[in-house]
Amino acid sequence: YDYDVLVVGSANADLTVRVDRRPDAGETVLGTDLVESAGGKGANQAAAAARLGGRVALLARIGGDAYGELLLNAQRAAGTDVRHVIADPEARTGTAMIIVGTDGDNSIVVSPGANAALTPKDVAAAREVIAGAAVLSLQLEIPMESVEAAAAAAREAGTRVVLNPSPAPEGLAPELLAAADPLVVNEHEARRISGAADGGPAEWARALRDLGARSVVITLGGDGAYVLDADGDAAVPGVKVTAVDTTGAGDAFTGALATRLARGETLATAARYAVRVGAAAVTKPGAQPSYPTPDELPAG
Ligand code: RIB
Ligand code: NA
Repeated sequence: YDYDVLVVGSANADLTVRVDRRPDAGETVLGTDLVESAGGKGANQAAAAARLGGRVALLARIGGDAYGELLLNAQRAAGTDVRHVIADPEARTGTAMIIVGTDGDNSIVVSPGANAALTPKDVAAAREVIAGAAVLSLQLEIPMESVEAAAAAAREAGTRVVLNPSPAPEGLAPELLAAADPLVVNEHEARRISGAADGGPAEWARALRDLGARSVVITLGGDGAYVLDADGDAAVPGVKVTAVDTTGAGDAFTGALATRLARGETLATAARYAVRVGAAAVTKPGAQPSYPTPDELPAG
């Protein structure tokens, strides 16, 4: 393989302010100083996987602005191959407006910018790159038809697809769901996509598999993860840490999972490692600035 992991997806500059209390509609609150850092679910997955030592490439679109430079520099520092990142001088780099509360939880509004112009054409041009990766990692902050085209190309080439359907969509095309091995969802996404409001991780995972996903990972924040594949199911315990900022922790989990799967680990073993990576990420502010190297991982 040329790459352990190829990520096709979004790149955003994260503009973060911490607040004591989220504003209600029509309300103004004062927050901390603004922090600009590297984010975007696709770029986050790539940075997480690369920092952990994976051979990683990112296919994404950025603008010709200073935020684009910030994102490129962050990927290079993480060790990602950025030759497939397309910089469009006419476009504006995607941005995410992020509010972080005292509990470390976040609310995010994304302005897609250049991410919206990542088309199936870009994906078609990257066919060989997709075929040359052990794992293709996907999320949903670029146009859905581009995600579907990437998954189809991967399936054709025999490249394993890891799909985190986030932000949670209204529905997922059956072919996309059938390509996911695994589908990685948090509780909210699991409920929404499975249509199973009640029950717990075991029920959601079975429902998602019945809908066509080849395997399923449900992330449970501080409670770890739940895994279901052909080997059976497994509960992966959480790792106790103090959460400072959960932004991008799910992306760190998914990037870590992808790189361990690329090395041939079982889903349960890879998830155990990814839980430690996600836990490390919540202990520091920001998305990519908080991603660990292997020696920075908590025991799991
Ligand atoms: O998942 C976290 C990410 O969501 C942030 O980095 C932000 O850019 C949005 O894409
Ligand atoms: Na963090």
